[in-house]
Amino acid sequence: MATVTVNPSGCTFSCEGKQTILEAALAASIALPYGCSMGTCGQCQIRLLHGQIKRVKHHDFSIRQADRLRGNFLSCSYTADSPTLVIEALEARCSADIPRQHINARIKNVTQVSADIAIVSVQTPRSTRLRFLPGQNVRLTLDSEISADLPIASCPCDDRNLEFHLRRLPNDAFSGLLFKQTSFPLAVSIDGPWGEVEKKISYGPTICLSFDVHIAAIKSWIEQQLADETERCIQLYWFAAEDEFYLSKLLSSWRDAFDTFTYNLIPVQDTSCRSVDPALLKNALRQFAPKLLLVAGPDYFAHLIKRCADEVGLDEYTLWEHTLQHPKSEHVAV
Ligand code: FES
Repeated sequence: MATVTVNPSGCTFSCEGKQTILEAALAASIALPYGCSMGTCGQCQIRLLHGQIKRVKHHDFSIRQADRLRGNFLSCSYTADSPTLVIEALEARCSADIPRQHINARIKNVTQVSADIAIVSVQTPRSTRLRFLPGQNVRLTLDSEISADLPIASCPCDDRNLEFHLRRLPNDAFSGLLFKQTSFPLAVSIDGPWGEVEKKISYGPTICLSFDVHIAAIKSWIEQQLADETERCIQLYWFAAEDEFYLSKLLSSWRDAFDTFTYNLIPVQDTSCRSVDPALLKNALRQFAPKLLLVAGPDYFAHLIKRCADEVGLDEYTLWEHTLQHPKSEHVAV
């Protein structure tokens, strides 16, 4: 096993066996640049500063000789061949670092997890994976041109198997169609990602507050933090109807596996979030004194939390609020 250090960020990750440097970095939630993952596009080209590497996958892309002499190589084709390696690469740290992508993919299945909620599993082709950061959104468009904008619920460490949480809504053609669909795979195009993500790296305690299926964006973020074996304490409050805590088994397994993660399931009476108790929110904020507050829910929910944080007098905290809207108010190109 080799330890790889990325310059200039100083992040480190482990690379084992025949794992490519790109695979190892993504598994450790380090967003190195890449495109095809198959040695054809050249977008994963990075520089070796120290150590030895070994080719483990064929690549068609040819690196210019001058760049090769400077130590450039394709991270999707090489693994580490010395106990330590230092590479020079710019990691994606904010949404501006991630290019917009259009990918023809397929819906592998739709699993109904309650009367009106389903988990949609989408798989991209091997050669065209989706680069994204946790908390980002995409537009899914079916062949019938019916589309939906949804947060990605899965971890960026798996850029091929994507998960979305879908609530069936009256007069919503997309959810109506997928809830009725019985034969899979189903063609779907993915456009995106977009959405601001947490920029400030803060290692203080974090409270995640989510309402209903809005938990999707928060799940992606928590999953990445846990994959990265974060040392920050994360406490999740999930508000949902009593019979709609569809991730409770997963959350319980996370809590058992990670000392840093705890969660609370708070049943609410309806899906309008008017029944969320401000006293409960204020207690949580006071007790946990978070340095980072992640919020995913309808506008009313987000406003309520901001008001509670002000009333409690939280100081020096960062607020990240998930929104489906593009930051420049433009729609994703389809
Ligand atoms: S990601 Fe395309 S060549 Fe490596």
